[in-house]
Amino acid sequence: MEDKKILTLLLGSPRIGGNTEKIADALAEGAIEKGYEVKKVHLAALTLKGCLDCRKCWSTGKPCIQNDDMDQVYPEIEEASVITFVSPLYFYSWSSQIKPVWDRLLPYYMPGALRTTPSKKAILIAAGGDKEEKVFDGMRASFKLATNFLGWEVLGEICAPDIYSRGDIEAKGAKWINKAKELGSSI
Ligand SMILES: Cc1cc2nc3c(=O)[nH]c(=O)nc-3n(C[C@H](O)[C@H](O)[C@H](O)COP(=O)(O)O)c2cc1C
Repeated sequence: MEDKKILTLLLGSPRIGGNTEKIADALAEGAIEKGYEVKKVHLAALTLKGCLDCRKCWSTGKPCIQNDDMDQVYPEIEEASVITFVSPLYFYSWSSQIKPVWDRLLPYYMPGALRTTPSKKAILIAAGGDKEEKVFDGMRASFKLATNFLGWEVLGEICAPDIYSRGDIEAKGAKWINKAKELGSSI
């Protein structure tokens, strides 16, 4: 029997139903047609602390010694086939809602890890108010380097410029919505 295919959307915007979530929904629409189950994680609704660099990963039997809502996010990451990092561009980088998820992937790569996350696939979705594509350079570089470090295969990136106010993606972002749907259908 074929393994269950799960597309997990890690939503880093504090705006529920905002621009990046709408792009992610289009990706999901394409993926559902391809037989994916889609899981949405609204990170802004969770309490996610930063990595403590305590080097005590797994010492309590779970990835991190901290007791916060990463306890819910870790299983989502472990069971996902494709993980989508969905973030508004904040100061040319990740939103503070999604950044802790990156940092707290460290346990999977510590010596003696009880579990690892091999053969994951990853997608980047972002939107920014600036008109120039180059504003995404930092986030794109971070995504490329981080996924390479993790050994995850990148399936695609959608970085939509000139998308600022709530509703901009519907008003003038059809190109990005279509690209996201196409990407979802191709995974
Ligand atoms: C704190 C903050 C920082 C931002 N920094 C940038 C930025 O550096 N570059 C940019 O193009 N847009 C920036 N923006 C605009 C957002 O990226 C933009 O509004 C985006 O469409 C929000 O997506 P969302 O609706 O999914 O939250 C910033 C917005 C906020 C609130």
